[in-house]
Amino acid sequence: MSYLPIIWCNDYRDNASNAVARVATEPRWLQKFGEFESERGTNHERTTGENRRHHWGSTGIGLATAKRFVKEGAYVFITGRRQAELDKAVAEIGRNVTAVQGDVSNLDDLDRLYKEVETKKGKLDVLFANAGIVEPKPTAAVSPEHYDKTFDVNARGVFFAVQKALPLMKEGGSIILTGSGIWQKGIPIYATYGATKAALRSFVRTWTAELAGKGIRANVISPGPIETPILKGQFGENTDAMKERFKTMIPMGRIGKPEEVASAAVFLASDESSYITGIDLPVDGGVVAV
Ligand SMILES: NC(=O)c1ccc[n+]([C@@H]2O[C@H](COP(=O)([O-])OP(=O)(O)OC[C@H]3O[C@@H](n4cnc5c(N)ncnc54)[C@H](OP(=O)(O)O)[C@@H]3O)[C@@H](O)[C@H]2O)c1
Repeated sequence: MSYLPIIWCNDYRDNASNAVARVATEPRWLQKFGEFESERGTNHERTTGENRRHHWGSTGIGLATAKRFVKEGAYVFITGRRQAELDKAVAEIGRNVTAVQGDVSNLDDLDRLYKEVETKKGKLDVLFANAGIVEPKPTAAVSPEHYDKTFDVNARGVFFAVQKALPLMKEGGSIILTGSGIWQKGIPIYATYGATKAALRSFVRTWTAELAGKGIRANVISPGPIETPILKGQFGENTDAMKERFKTMIPMGRIGKPEEVASAAVFLASDESSYITGIDLPVDGGVVAV
């Protein structure tokens, strides 16, 4: 299961103020990825398949963050393509949540989402644009379709999610994007994914300049390897071996938890970070630093 909280609104800030790494660069690992990809299909195909329902019961960054924000007193709107996963997320979050099914690469879906926010709550305090897909491929294997899909969701989807949120955002609002440390590392098989996350880094620099006068801050959180379904979506039967390998690369010697990313999001959403805008905050056990 995985979830995409995209928006927090209502009087969140008043309450909240209380409040990859170099993977598999060796040829033998790349070879394994190639075999895995061809045997099991794309990440999206896998994430909608039987295995996901039966075995992938962990929670993603989105769900952990939504739960934490509600705990801090927020009302949250969440979105994602799969209605069944949204229903489970709503049940798990329990209160102060509305789910609006949609695809962030579809601009009509974004309009519908924000219409719902406006109708129900009027304004937004915080936008957490967290949707992302990853289909690791060496450059030679990248098709135009793969390229477009990755950019449509990870970069274009985030861009228009922010653009369309702006009319609803209050002064003092916070925009938080989920990037990845991968864009800072030259890792084979992540040419497209890494470039989409680099785009997010650039977006927040521009938005920092454009929105500071409106009292809106914009930042990126860049997770390292985090225990969510996206790992299995990339590595399949090699997931456990990859996690062990990650541990040897991460100074803190472990994979991160979604709740640790949620904590960083709460910080960047709250007045505790009132003088911070335009940054890329790694939440990665130190892996990008070394
Ligand atoms: N876990 C890590 O190791 C890691 C590391 C660095 C960065 N990240 C980033 O963290 C973010 C969250 O990933 P995660 O680790 O929590 O994995 P996840 O559990 O697979 O979450 C991805 C979320 O994005 C949603 N999503 C994907 N495409 C979408 C679309 N077109 N429209 C709307 N929603 C869409 C998915 O929901 P549906 O499939 O239902 O649409 C899902 O809720 C991603 O941006 C990812 O790149 C993760």
